[in-house]
Amino acid sequence: MTSILPHGGELIQRVASNERQGELTHLVKQMKQIPVNSWAISDLDLIGVGAFSPLEGFMNEEDYMSVVASMRLADGTVWSIPITLAVEEQLANQLTLGEPAALVGENDGIVYGVIHVESIYQVDQREEALQVFKTDDPEHPGVQKLFERSDIYVGGSIELLHRPEPDKFKAFYYDPAQTRGYFKEQGWKTVVGFQTRNPVHRAHEYIQKSAMEIVDALFLNPLVGETKADDVPADVRMKSYLKLLEHYYPSNRTFLGVFPAAMRYAGPREAIFHALVRKNYGCTHFIVGRDHAGVGDYYGTYEAQEIFSNFTAEELGITPLFFEHSFFCTVCGNMASSKTCPHEKEHHLTLSGTKVRGLLREGKCPPPEFTRPEVAQILIKGMKESITV
Ligand code: ADX
Repeated sequence: MTSILPHGGELIQRVASNERQGELTHLVKQMKQIPVNSWAISDLDLIGVGAFSPLEGFMNEEDYMSVVASMRLADGTVWSIPITLAVEEQLANQLTLGEPAALVGENDGIVYGVIHVESIYQVDQREEALQVFKTDDPEHPGVQKLFERSDIYVGGSIELLHRPEPDKFKAFYYDPAQTRGYFKEQGWKTVVGFQTRNPVHRAHEYIQKSAMEIVDALFLNPLVGETKADDVPADVRMKSYLKLLEHYYPSNRTFLGVFPAAMRYAGPREAIFHALVRKNYGCTHFIVGRDHAGVGDYYGTYEAQEIFSNFTAEELGITPLFFEHSFFCTVCGNMASSKTCPHEKEHHLTLSGTKVRGLLREGKCPPPEFTRPEVAQILIKGMKESITV
């Protein structure tokens, strides 16, 4: 049995060996130090373990320009989201091309890694925003983050020296090599990846299980890196996933592991990125539903599906599974989608995120056809705790 190839053909490994660690611990003392925040540390870590294969480091100018303009690395490989390291101008002026610099946690002083500086470049962030997020509205959470950063980027290959320590749910952190190994061990030939930054509501469950009917297993891969403030915190979500899996999913065909990346809210472009990364984790299929990775009204409902038609199946190397807007239909008496249900909208139970959050905040469960009561209870408790904090 052969497992699916990583993007670019090879699973990148940039974690420094013990020997190299020893060498570098010495060398970093002489290097210029670049402070890195939790977002950059998470990117560094994901590059290091190959989740972002074929990237071997933060993008140089050539790759960056190519990705922004045409969703491809300079060598033509599909890649939709710039993975970049922003550095303040004054510090950038002190860096030397061809020399390594230490990547030091801005809050803890830990040397997380080293970058071999090959490119220092200034970018047009407005252009980046327009291309990547399709808007330069500073209210967009991804654009806001982008505009907060320096517009000088430093590119080059990295070496990962120190892995960020998760403070909770450590048992659910797996590197791509580990998930690949596990899928193989289980004998799963086809695995569908599911990205989420939300609790699993009935619509999510419906599309996951519809996909599970045609593949060997589900890799539930919730994003637990940085999200916007009003998204449900990752630890509350994790509790709800565990409850749901315990009661409603076959344990021999479901695997839960977190995706420790930051959420970009880049809609269509992020859907491509999410798919490619899940390919690196060993998935053969990837679910893209309505408004994947979207926020507000910035993207069309199915834009994140349509964008896949820009690429051939071979270029992507992972099969996207598209699902239309799903809901509970009171006439059908079950979950359905706009593709399978003939009834008028008034029979469809849909609730906005704002409405659901409002109910939960008041301690009320949304209808069971929308959220399973076991999940709702966890969310209500989580909301209460986060308010009192
Ligand atoms: S996302 O930002 O991570 O995409 P979310 O966790 O809400 O947000 O969605 C996870 C996946 O489920 C995405 O592929 C999304 O398109 C899909 N999805 C969410 N809600 C629905 C729905 N009601 N119908 C169909 N697909 C949905």
